[in-house]
Amino acid sequence: MLNNWDDPFAQFANKKNNATNVTTSSTSTIDQSAEQNVSQNVSQNAENVIRQQVIEQQANEQKATEAATETNASVANTPVANVAVAKAPHAGDGIVSNEALMATAGAAPQVNPIIEDAPQTDTNTDLSGDLTGTGLEEIEMGAKRIQVDDKKIINCRCDLNQLVPFKYDWAWQKYLDGCANHWMPQEINMTADLALWRDPNGLTDDERTVIKRNLGFFASADSLVANNLVLAVYKHITNPECRQYLLRQSFEEAVHTHAYQYCVESLGLDEGEIFNMYREVPAVARKAEWALPFTQHLADPNFHTGTPENDQKLLRELIAFYVVFEGIFFYVGFTQILSMGRRNKMTGVAEQFQYILRDESMHMNFGIDVINQIKIENPHLWTAEFQQEMVDLIRDAVEIETQYARDTMPRGILGLNAPMFEEYLQFIANRRCSQIGLPEQYKGATNPFPWMSEVLDLKKEKNFFETRVTEYQTGGALSWD
Ligand SMILES: [Fe+2]
Ligand SMILES: [Fe+2]
Repeated sequence: MLNNWDDPFAQFANKKNNATNVTTSSTSTIDQSAEQNVSQNVSQNAENVIRQQVIEQQANEQKATEAATETNASVANTPVANVAVAKAPHAGDGIVSNEALMATAGAAPQVNPIIEDAPQTDTNTDLSGDLTGTGLEEIEMGAKRIQVDDKKIINCRCDLNQLVPFKYDWAWQKYLDGCANHWMPQEINMTADLALWRDPNGLTDDERTVIKRNLGFFASADSLVANNLVLAVYKHITNPECRQYLLRQSFEEAVHTHAYQYCVESLGLDEGEIFNMYREVPAVARKAEWALPFTQHLADPNFHTGTPENDQKLLRELIAFYVVFEGIFFYVGFTQILSMGRRNKMTGVAEQFQYILRDESMHMNFGIDVINQIKIENPHLWTAEFQQEMVDLIRDAVEIETQYARDTMPRGILGLNAPMFEEYLQFIANRRCSQIGLPEQYKGATNPFPWMSEVLDLKKEKNFFETRVTEYQTGGALSWD
């Protein structure tokens, strides 16, 4: 236990124990003489269940036999087919004995069982070229040992399965920091949130809309980011310590999706409504639609870095996901939910978001370090034309996220309104531009939410989170100043 709240696992553990007890009790009652009325009832019920199962099994066997007769006899009458038809367990059967399971082993349909007969569409069986720079190449026995200078962040051709010697200490340090910040959604108490959500006077309709919209956006956005990492980015970052962090980040994205699911479950929301929002609500869909094209071509198995054009594609996508998607598109939602927490509303949801934001802050900073390292090692990619394109990208993102603020809070809530978010996004965009070496775009933009500096990725981030990490490890809870 990490805090003094009710143990969220306990209820599940109790349910599990209760379920186990019921099963054990029923079984033992059947075996014993019926001395008590309760036991008799249980016994009678169990017998009825068993009788019903026998009847159903006989009916199923009868149907199976009829089906087998109607099917081609040369196939259906093979021993394997008979075993599969008569005994294969399926969902709803309850616990199946190991013996029954083993009886069906090997009975599953086989796909292309004879390789020689499978159609050959590609006569080129030498795939070694495709694996270069992935870490999956054949082992080169006795090859020269890796030196730090052999390592490169992209297009590295040395062994990627050796973590050390470290070249990029910043990447390894972020991996360590990410691990030190480990948390799980079930550790956060959602009781007060549920009471407030159920209270008809607890929240305004606008506040409820903001909560649902943000859960809807983030629930699918984090899956999108995780899929982008695993299926597109990872392969093209050719450095083991960076990949170590990417693996950590991928897990954290899974935790985030879990956190949104946990909020939905805790509040009793309609999960279909929330998880489909990015396909049904334009304000939510727009941001995912914007991001998807950037990941799609990188995930193409035929895409390889190594040319200036393709290396720029990778750089463009890293900026799109780390600087824009995680660095701009998350911030209206984070600010809206954290505002609620500061006003003592939906504090559990807000705490989930605060942990997520701590992770996201590190993701974004890692991405910026990767982008800058690629620029250092490949200065020819950072052309004036490419820089202008990235400026346009960031300016478009500010407009899209500003529109999201308008769509999610047309009337303003909690002392927040859309124009304040426009100013805030311009302030953030300036910071993002300077972080990757682009000129600031919005002169004079100031931060209308100075309190966000205390909890987000800005100046006091390190002290704030260092404090939190210590508390986390000793069982404290977040406080709202
Ligand atoms: Fe995330
Ligand atoms: Fe992230």
